[in-house]
Amino acid sequence: MTNWTPESWRTLPIQQQPTYKDKELLANVEAQIHSFPPLVFAEETRELHRQLGEVANGRGFLLQGGDCAESFSDFSATNIRDTFKVMLQMAVVLTFGGKVPVTKIARVAGQYAKPRSSDLEEVNGVKLPSYRGDIVNSFEFNELAREPDPQRLVTAYHHSASTLNLLRAFAQGGLADLHQVNRWNMSFVESNPNRDRYQHLADQLKETLDFMQVIGLTSETTPMIKETQLFTSHEALLLNYEQALTRKDHLTDKWYDCSAHMVWIGERTRQLDHAHIEFFKGINNPIGVKVGPGMQPDELIKLIDALNPNNVPGRLTLITRMGADVIGKKLPALVQRVKQEGRHVVWSSDPMHGNTIKASNGYKTRNFDAVLTEIQDFFSVHKAEGTWAGGVHFEMTGQHVTECTGGAYGLSEADLSKRYETQCDPRLNADQVLELAFLITDALKDAR
Ligand code: PEP
Ligand code: CO
Repeated sequence: MTNWTPESWRTLPIQQQPTYKDKELLANVEAQIHSFPPLVFAEETRELHRQLGEVANGRGFLLQGGDCAESFSDFSATNIRDTFKVMLQMAVVLTFGGKVPVTKIARVAGQYAKPRSSDLEEVNGVKLPSYRGDIVNSFEFNELAREPDPQRLVTAYHHSASTLNLLRAFAQGGLADLHQVNRWNMSFVESNPNRDRYQHLADQLKETLDFMQVIGLTSETTPMIKETQLFTSHEALLLNYEQALTRKDHLTDKWYDCSAHMVWIGERTRQLDHAHIEFFKGINNPIGVKVGPGMQPDELIKLIDALNPNNVPGRLTLITRMGADVIGKKLPALVQRVKQEGRHVVWSSDPMHGNTIKASNGYKTRNFDAVLTEIQDFFSVHKAEGTWAGGVHFEMTGQHVTECTGGAYGLSEADLSKRYETQCDPRLNADQVLELAFLITDALKDAR
């Protein structure tokens, strides 16, 4: 790593980047962000690294989730609160039902840049640059809106900073109290069509909390009951932004990308000799990489060795996104090879990105059963190989949107138009994702 610098990625080929017209403005903006305070503290990322090390060793579970893309227009306390709430609800269900400590990482406070399948989008014969996320350009379809604007990097930084501020307040300030979280879960159970399936777990948790109260373990006496830790993450796609927030930690003299606790490389930008891999080699955060159905065992080992040459547990999370029909065929060979070679990784399942389909009415959607099937197969493969199914990665929202079909309320394709609000991929809504958490607990308990 002797030749690595925060900017050594700049000489290498790079995919999925905007073309900025005003290079001077871009450079000024980067310098400005470089002068801003970091968004996270390196010590926090080391704590996350430690927790993920436990996950890699089969002693913890990772819950990662949030918007496909955050947007400037949806930036509000309500959205942040509802994402926080649903993450916490799921974590409590998984911890209590699966009997395993859960590390929570949200796709939030920086998830603003999107890879796209095509550089241009065509509507009624007009071709314009694709929308690449609010950190790059605007979703509206007109020439001015789609022009990449460097100033948006600064806006994304400020939005991320204030999102993080509120999340930290929620985590420490009382909103995370287990009594409250279970109350929310009880109300989910009450109104759910599959009520009977979930009531038992919610009741048990209530009894446990009541018992703890009797013996003096209350929110007042035991801070762990009322506080939580929620880490942040995003796809580190826009390396100009990531570099500007990369700092040398004064305690350890090591480099950290202080834009988030964890960052990951997407499926489309993980070429071994390209810029993203180079940048990730030098940062000491826990990192992730998406692994799609095209990945071969040899290539995976090379990727692992490039990103985690010292084979440190917790450094690298492999986020598989295969598709419900494919995972059973592709994942076993990868898992076998990694196990055989003794590489320590966290295996996490993204059951979203391999299951995107077009509904007959044109909406881009995902079906609840396909998502569930991919997760169940993920657990089965790891069970068969004797490895640990370490986590799940969802695109979800705390809002009651109608973007994915299925679930207990039986959302149909015809329902999609009611509240289809995503600017990018379809997200599971609060009910769907909490239902998944309940459904995963059996597999999790079984895996232990
Ligand atoms: C994403 O997680 O939003 C994403 C684009 O995923 P992938 O890189 O796996 O396609
Ligand atoms: Co997505």
